[in-house]
Amino acid sequence: MKGIILAGGLATRLYPLTHATNKHLLPVYDQPMIYYPIKTLLKAGIDEILIVTGGPHAGDFIRVLKDGKDLGIKHLEYTYQEKAGGIADALSLAKDFADNEPVAVILGDNTTDIDIKPYVESFKDGAMIFLKKVADPQRFGVPVFTKPRKGAKKKITKIEEKPKEPQSDYAVTGLYFYDNEIFDIIKTIKPSDRGQLEITDVNNIYLKKDKLNWTEIDGFWTDAGTPASLFKANAYWSIRKGVNLE
Ligand code: G1P
Repeated sequence: MKGIILAGGLATRLYPLTHATNKHLLPVYDQPMIYYPIKTLLKAGIDEILIVTGGPHAGDFIRVLKDGKDLGIKHLEYTYQEKAGGIADALSLAKDFADNEPVAVILGDNTTDIDIKPYVESFKDGAMIFLKKVADPQRFGVPVFTKPRKGAKKKITKIEEKPKEPQSDYAVTGLYFYDNEIFDIIKTIKPSDRGQLEITDVNNIYLKKDKLNWTEIDGFWTDAGTPASLFKANAYWSIRKGVNLE
């Protein structure tokens, strides 16, 4: 499996911080944010990584990551997303890099402490998403579930992107596995009202084909795209790494 980290966008919700550099290079305690998804992939044995970036500070990645060898990346590639066209648009740029292998995709502002290795090893085909219970589901892609039957795993009937009235208190996190069919699926979707090719539309197509698997993250996860969530990521990782906030 190959790894793709999406690290483009303007991150306007973090202005004025992101006037200075790309969001994914802002500090999360003692490291640039993007180190966290990189390490999540490396720990799972994924050491061929593509970074899809964009915006005015794309060049900053080279100064920080160089060829990735210092971090243990065997093969690091970069590509540039011309317009902020959404997650699925960014992913479409990864077709050649994927070269018919399945891909693990992580949004560059997502940090988690879970070990994804068992999921990487058991992934065969279709898509796999990772859910996390959150206090503010309306900020995310949100799964709608069937009524749970005793002893049976709940089923997802659809995923709604940033619903005003969320049907569950779960977020679809920015960690996804896909087989190579994703590149054909992306070609079939249309931009949403916010003008983006939504990853939620891609996931709903896998769901309709009965090829979407899911699991719940049993550990810490947050994104860091708003001042509050960036602070949460910093607070968690600083305490985890031994800082005493008292
Ligand atoms: C994106 C996705 C959303 C997902 C979230 C996870 O939202 O569109 O489905 O739940 O990432 O971080 P965005 O960061 O574009 O608001």
